[in-house]
Amino acid sequence: MLDSFLNSCADSALNALGQELANESLKAFSTNNGNIPKWQKAIEYIDSFEKSDLSYHAPYINIQSESDNYRQLENSFKQLIPWRKGPYQIGNIVIDSEWSGNLKWDRVFPHIRPLKNKIVLDVGAGNGYFTFLMALSGANLVIGLEPFLLFNYQFQAIRCMIRKPPNAYVLPLRLEQAPDISAFDTIFSMGVLYHQRDHMLHLHKLKKMLKKDGELILETLVIEDDKVDELIPNDRYARMRNVWRIPSISIICSWIEEAGFSSTKLVDINQTSVNEQRATPWIGENAKSLADFLDSEDQNFTVEGYPAPKRATFICRN
Ligand SMILES: C[S@@+](CC[C@H](N)C(=O)[O-])C[C@H]1O[C@@H](n2cnc3c(N)ncnc32)[C@H](O)[C@@H]1O
Repeated sequence: MLDSFLNSCADSALNALGQELANESLKAFSTNNGNIPKWQKAIEYIDSFEKSDLSYHAPYINIQSESDNYRQLENSFKQLIPWRKGPYQIGNIVIDSEWSGNLKWDRVFPHIRPLKNKIVLDVGAGNGYFTFLMALSGANLVIGLEPFLLFNYQFQAIRCMIRKPPNAYVLPLRLEQAPDISAFDTIFSMGVLYHQRDHMLHLHKLKKMLKKDGELILETLVIEDDKVDELIPNDRYARMRNVWRIPSISIICSWIEEAGFSSTKLVDINQTSVNEQRATPWIGENAKSLADFLDSEDQNFTVEGYPAPKRATFICRN
């Protein structure tokens, strides 16, 4: 996949960026992780199946498959559990992921500039569900950055079923590992900011990588409480360990301005529903999801007593 990635970066100003990202990715893929042989074996098996075209039939990212052997194919995709992001449909197999990603896409997509012929960065790409959707929307090249290795293998498992894979790649890197090259027309940072210990570092970095007059789509947790500027969880938030701070709308707008973006528009606020994030067999037996992380008597609060997750989407211009 990295060869194909380098080819996609070869004929443009992306050459230096591509080379550096590929070098860092090679290092990340060669880390010592005991699960890699199992994941690689699953992908080798998936790769032996006939390839087909990629499309989007909401809610599914879809790949036709005529295989009679689909139970074994399904077992191979199950070797890569938990599937957080999706859903995907490959032939008869429905990968019913924890998140119904189409709902987020429906909230965000109507507000963004067309992606046709654009160079796009998808920060915190997970297994590439949105990365594929960006490519299917006509982007010339989409680079997803996702440090969690399993999600990279999930992306590759899907990608190797596609007859002519689009110029869309998920690389095993954190945003901070990318060089400061302003190469992107559009950058998505969705569901990532509250996981950053230093939120301003994240915003400054996004700004540096965006072209002049480019567009940043920032989707993140917020609190809607006039009396509080930000929520800094004591320990966990909705059972998540790595949520550092959740700002109010006015505070996040001041962060965006401080990072130097020229304009910001709030286009959506949505309280995450237990239809959008829920336990399915594809995250493992008895695995928990949002319904278990909310107060059983009042779903407007988390089990820790904080306001339940609300996500806002901002469109920021460079
Ligand atoms: C909550 S998920 C959001 C996934 C997807 N963007 C979405 O909106 O559904 C956040 C993802 O960002 C990744 N992530 C966290 N910090 C990151 C960073 N500094 N650079 C790139 N990815 C990061 C995590 O590994 C995780 O998969």
